[in-house]
Amino acid sequence: MAEIGKDLDKAKALLEAGKLVAVPTETVYGLAANALDVSSVTKIFAAKNRPHFDPLIVHVPDRDTVNKYVQEIPSKAISLMKEFWPGPITFLLAKKKSIPDLVTSGLDRVGIRCPNHQLTHALLKSLSFPLAAPSANPFGYVSPTKPEHVNEQLGNKIDYILDGGECNIGIESTIIGFENDIPMIHRVGGLSVEKIELIVGDVQVQTQSVSNPQAPGQLQSHYAPGKILKIGNIDELLHENRNTRVGVLSFQKRYAGDFIEKQIVLSPVGDVNEAAQKLFSALRELDKSSVEIILTETVPDFGLGRAINDRLRRASA
Ligand code: TXA
Ligand code: MG
Repeated sequence: MAEIGKDLDKAKALLEAGKLVAVPTETVYGLAANALDVSSVTKIFAAKNRPHFDPLIVHVPDRDTVNKYVQEIPSKAISLMKEFWPGPITFLLAKKKSIPDLVTSGLDRVGIRCPNHQLTHALLKSLSFPLAAPSANPFGYVSPTKPEHVNEQLGNKIDYILDGGECNIGIESTIIGFENDIPMIHRVGGLSVEKIELIVGDVQVQTQSVSNPQAPGQLQSHYAPGKILKIGNIDELLHENRNTRVGVLSFQKRYAGDFIEKQIVLSPVGDVNEAAQKLFSALRELDKSSVEIILTETVPDFGLGRAINDRLRRASA
């Protein structure tokens, strides 16, 4: 198992030595390494069992640093950075040569993000290089929102987990690119489409491509627990699965049925932000329990609800 602690000097020394460190962000925990060093980045792909065609997001301490790694920043991106950074939005921007091709899987654009977490911000500030960091889970599985989640799955492959507590947004960043100045969302995430549109006007959302090798986070089956997850009308699903040990993951309502072995309500008050924060923990808990199948439903499709529904659909695919 990896050591879990708050020692920034230790995290810094390990990263400078080319090692992997799991770091907290406001969205999910990341598995970080020196983004400018190919042999360090290679370790990320190995630890996660991640295919090399799936590019990594590069994390920076502030907006000014971005210019070192990208050729230009479109004006709409600058407006969004000013409004939402540090925060849960990742920009796809034309990369400079300093970013190794391995990081972007050979693509011309690099994903760049400035995370909003005090510990990781201090770490990024102290380093002379940015951090490449995918979510700290084995490829295709649910992202981690607590240090223990990282330890359970990757504890024997990494040296240190920086303990920043539970992530307060709980769902991965929104990914946005710009084609001819038109904003295009490639992954719905921790910053809602509505908030982005308030700043830059209409955006396109392109997250349905099921086989696009450029963004495997958009693969149809992703973010998935090990157990079968069925999404739909929970009353109907309960009826169909009444001879099974079922787990229920609902939005607001509690369901009745003596064959329900475990039930988690994401937000009894019906708040999509609270539901987003609890979603991945809840999926992990149900996955670890003795239920045979997990029944779930979509949540209201606005704000972070849209990202929740996206993850639930992929998890059930
Ligand atoms: O909130 C987050 O974004 C977290 C934290 C740790 O920052 N990171 C994260 O990374 O979710 P990851 O690797 O699990 O998901 C990143 C997604 C992948 O689906 C990847 O394909 C896409 O971003 N991506 C990264 N760089 C890209 C690029 N240059 N072009 C297209 N897609 C890219
Ligand atoms: Mg991931």
